[in-house]
Amino acid sequence: MFHAEITGWGKCLPPAVLSNEDLATFLDTSDEWITSRTGIKERRICHCNFSDMALVAARRALAAADLDPSELDLILLGSLTNDSLCPNTASLIQDALGARNCASIDINSACTGFLYGLHIGTNLIRTGAHKKVLVIGGEFISHYMNWNRRDVAVLFGDACGAVIIEASEKETGLIASKIGCEADAKYAIQITNLGSAYSRQSDDFLYVGWNFEGQEVFRRAVKCMSLACKDVLKQAGLTVDDIKLVVPHQANKRILDSLARRVGIDPDRVFVNVHKYGNTSAGTIPVALTEAVEEGRISPGDYILTASFGAGLTWGAGLIRWGDRVTPLKESDAELPPNDKTALEILEPQIRRYAAREESVT
Ligand code: UT7
Repeated sequence: MFHAEITGWGKCLPPAVLSNEDLATFLDTSDEWITSRTGIKERRICHCNFSDMALVAARRALAAADLDPSELDLILLGSLTNDSLCPNTASLIQDALGARNCASIDINSACTGFLYGLHIGTNLIRTGAHKKVLVIGGEFISHYMNWNRRDVAVLFGDACGAVIIEASEKETGLIASKIGCEADAKYAIQITNLGSAYSRQSDDFLYVGWNFEGQEVFRRAVKCMSLACKDVLKQAGLTVDDIKLVVPHQANKRILDSLARRVGIDPDRVFVNVHKYGNTSAGTIPVALTEAVEEGRISPGDYILTASFGAGLTWGAGLIRWGDRVTPLKESDAELPPNDKTALEILEPQIRRYAAREESVT
């Protein structure tokens, strides 16, 4: 049986920064509330298309693995904010990369999209069906935001990350994983007015709405991620003492602290960057993994625990054994198109549109 070694990693953060103070200029909120309830100080706002971010992250991951795109045999893209539904966005990435020898699949499982992709890609490599897989996770969630909703708008940001996994005979990569979905809570996070169920029924079509039961999601997130973490540790015959670093989904610092307590791991061994980027949905884990490697927090052979949850309510955990290399083989010069706007300037038309909409319905 093959294993699926992580040989490349990359991230893409759009440059425009939206601070808590910026949000307080048009929402009834404050830096104090956002920081104390979530740990988030700022987030990034995308000025281009989602696929531009995904492409930069993918090019950086390919360079780190020193892989030519023509060697890829599968692209798995976890996101719910794709450029378009048809064609799928993985095919846009495939074409832009010139990865002519592969299949391309979009995975819509919200924040768990990257972990689901890593689970699927790893298991396809294990069977021998695929050998070199690009797994991308990211989100352009600001595009789908309802800027009247202070309880949701302050939580999210835009970003993308990617890894390359390659067949290997060494026991490395995702050595154990568990994914699931608490579908009875599917409406605890719901983006309304988008999708074929809405288009014929609603005058509100395209005025995106959110159902968001924050406390219910919080409770289930901690429960599902901690149970999944224990499951993968058991599968691998390891304990928390064997884990060098936990690299979990970054939604809320309080969720990370509760997860650390439940799993019985010191908070110092939990990687945190939610203060810089907010919740970037499927982007959080590949961005955090990339930063953990860049910051020297992962060494060859380390065991890394990861866990995620998101709309669905999808959830999962994975146990990664890092390979022999923590330095990229090559660097990519891929960059996003230039941007000369502030985050508030980028968002201004959307904020104005949602404010006008609220006025017209009240
Ligand atoms: O990847 C999955 C994505 N989902 C999540 O990660 C969500 C998980 N849940 C959470 O992170 C937390 O539940 C939240 C951060 C969303 C909310 O924190 P909370 O401590 O559960 O606050 P709450 O919902 O109980 O709201 C407390 C108060 C309410 O006011 P009242 O009713 O007590 O007067 C809210 O209206 O805070 C108010 N509030 C705000 N105040 C200032 C809600 N949002 C804001 C805001 N600024 N942005």
